[in-house]
Amino acid sequence: MFEPVGSAEVTINIYLDGRPIPARAGETIAACLLRAGVTHFRTTPVSGARRLPYCMIGHCFDCLIEIDGIGSRQACLSQVVTGMKLRTQNGPAIIPGVDLQ
Ligand code: FES
Repeated sequence: MFEPVGSAEVTINIYLDGRPIPARAGETIAACLLRAGVTHFRTTPVSGARRLPYCMIGHCFDCLIEIDGIGSRQACLSQVVTGMKLRTQNGPAIIPGVDLQ
């Protein structure tokens, strides 16, 4: 029913909170992390509720994650890149030069 986008082979590694995650070149970060069994990508700033991707098309913003030091990036719209460093986003985003407090 579903066909993988990009390579069907695991060819690269990305890192989530320092943990290596095997990835397929051309796939999105959200698809990769869901396949790896990640339980949440972020927590909400107000209640601390855990969030996972919902729409996978850029509308819901439940997939926000920190990518290479920049917070609030949409994992469902971002492709994996060899060696990229992801961090679970707990609470407000860290965006260089922007104070969200
Ligand atoms: S999963 Fe909805 S915006 Fe990314």
